[in-house]
Amino acid sequence: MNKGLFITFEGADGCGKTTQLKLIDEYLRGKGYKTLITREPGAKGLGEKIREILLNYDGDVSPRCESFLFLADRAQNIDCIIKPAIEEGVIVLCDRHTDSSVAYQGYGRGLDIERINFLNNLATDGMKPDLTLVFDVDIETSEKRVGSKKDRMEKAGREFFERVRQGYLEIAKKEPERIKVVDSTKSIDEIHQEVIKLIQNKFNVTNI
Ligand code: TYD
Repeated sequence: MNKGLFITFEGADGCGKTTQLKLIDEYLRGKGYKTLITREPGAKGLGEKIREILLNYDGDVSPRCESFLFLADRAQNIDCIIKPAIEEGVIVLCDRHTDSSVAYQGYGRGLDIERINFLNNLATDGMKPDLTLVFDVDIETSEKRVGSKKDRMEKAGREFFERVRQGYLEIAKKEPERIKVVDSTKSIDEIHQEVIKLIQNKFNVTNI
């Protein structure tokens, strides 16, 4: 493998994607691959400051302002972390990326999806994930996992959650080659095995 791979992990709050990201990271390292974990919002460095505002600011935040903050963090993540790593042959595992903006700001908050796609494209400079895994859960499972300590986004409510969830499923239907939906109500190990298979199938390799 000369160039690296870019894999994104998506899903509504409490879907368990971060647990799966860490498991597959350990697995890939065990197989001798170089990996790098990053996340949005909150890419290392400036992104961490943007994350603080997005998740903890308790005054009014307009939906458009919110979108631009996510996009700013994304641009920084692509330019300073993701692209350089991919060039060096690293497998980049990114916790949330462009599809979060479509699902949350588009389907969740009702902003125009065409516009979000356009802005996403600007933020990423046209770079797309090679593979996106959407971890799908129902609201009951999500609530159990998130617990009572909710951040600003998680306080948005049940209807919002449902819109986000359906949004992800619709996005996945539109791009079946890139986006794979994983039933995230299964056990951690079952999901992990499925993630391994999806990565193997996608990249046509059996030694991953
Ligand atoms: P985080 O604590 O990282 O949640 P999670 O563990 O669920 O990923 O918080 C990120 C929150 O920001 C989450 O509620 C989703 C939201 N978000 C958007 O609304 N738009 C975006 O573009 C991104 C990247 C995240």
